Amino acid sequence: MKLTLSVIKADVGSIGGHICPSKALVDTVKSYIRDHGRGLIIDHHIATIGDDVHILMTHTHGDLNSKVHELAWNAFFAGTETAKGQGLYGAGQDLLKNAFSGNVRGLGPACAEITCTERPNESFVLFAADKTEPGAYNLPLYLSFADPMHCAGFMLSPPMFKGFTFRIMDCDHVDGDRTIDLHAPEDLYGIATLLRDNSRYVVEGIYSRYNGEKAAAVSTSRLRLIAGKYTGKDDPVCLVRVQGNFPSVGEVTEPYAIAHYVAGTMRGSHNSVMMPVKTGSTMTYFDGPTQVCAQAFSVHDGRLTEAIDMFDHPVWDVVRNRASEKFIELRRQGFSGPAMLGIHELEYGGVVEKLKELDERFKVTKEDEGTRKSKAQKVKAEAGEDAD
Ligand code: 13P
Ligand code: 13P
Ligand code: MG
Ligand code: MG
Repeated sequence: MKLTLSVIKADVGSIGGHICPSKALVDTVKSYIRDHGRGLIIDHHIATIGDDVHILMTHTHGDLNSKVHELAWNAFFAGTETAKGQGLYGAGQDLLKNAFSGNVRGLGPACAEITCTERPNESFVLFAADKTEPGAYNLPLYLSFADPMHCAGFMLSPPMFKGFTFRIMDCDHVDGDRTIDLHAPEDLYGIATLLRDNSRYVVEGIYSRYNGEKAAAVSTSRLRLIAGKYTGKDDPVCLVRVQGNFPSVGEVTEPYAIAHYVAGTMRGSHNSVMMPVKTGSTMTYFDGPTQVCAQAFSVHDGRLTEAIDMFDHPVWDVVRNRASEKFIELRRQGFSGPAMLGIHELEYGGVVEKLKELDERFKVTKEDEGTRKSKAQKVKAEAGEDAD
């Protein structure tokens, strides 16, 4: 059967700051989907990471279906009402438009979708991250879908020998979607050249070169470009199909053991470390480190199994300890240099006002003409003496 996996994520309010949504908020979203999804979606699963709620839905209506997207939008709207009723922080934070139109793209919530022919043993992993940007998935996806150092399938699984096509989006482009298709392995250096810039170039989708099937999808929302100011980070979701012609489930989680440096955390303005955590984790230290959860599912006729929490295993405790040390070490230098993001990333926030204010207090001091001339003559004379 033709199956669509849709995951739509939003932050519509959280307790005590950007920590986590309340139980009442999550229950509201859950009961909205349960009550209004009948006849439209086949199955669903709702979970949280930090202050974000993600709704996974299975259905047969294809990508960007307006009814499916409206269901999620309305569920988040209902959650917002609960958030307001409880005085939660940032109620409705990611619902940037007043009314729903067409699909959630450009309205605030993050969305990743895959439409495929369901395999007899269809399985996939849903990643959801808090306090970061969509480009945070660039490195792990590159390592899983292009690097035999992390994915043994390139040597051991014949359908993978042809490699994968990366569709990469230029997130700075606002007038339509600007994308490029690059093919691993022959375009590896081009892929790396773009993916090194997590804030601008983001893997939007990955496709098998063996049969053209879509293997992965990442949300590419741009909240600051929608709102025109900083309203929160584009906390991203990602779907990855696994096994068979795709990397195995362990090959898509293994790169997270690096706990790589990404953008995010406090006020979305700092560099951070991507820590793999249990689904539903909260966030209590400098709005960081950035955290990512992973839930594995099997699906048959659109019905989901229970979720397996991929980072709920002792091996990830070692990674978490290392990620904590890396992040605390980076935090020791506060605002200095690479601890914070560059000005290009901060230009939608309050620092612009601060810099404007300071700009007016700068003084330019120049030497008078006479002093400059006599200095130049002295330099010339000294050069002449040396030359003799
Ligand atoms: P099993 O032998 O446990 O089925 O595992 C096969 C495999 O390829 C694991 O990556
Ligand atoms: P969120 O994007 O998770 O809402 O966090 C925003 C923020 O400013 C944290 O300090
Ligand atoms: Mg928030
Ligand atoms: Mg968040």
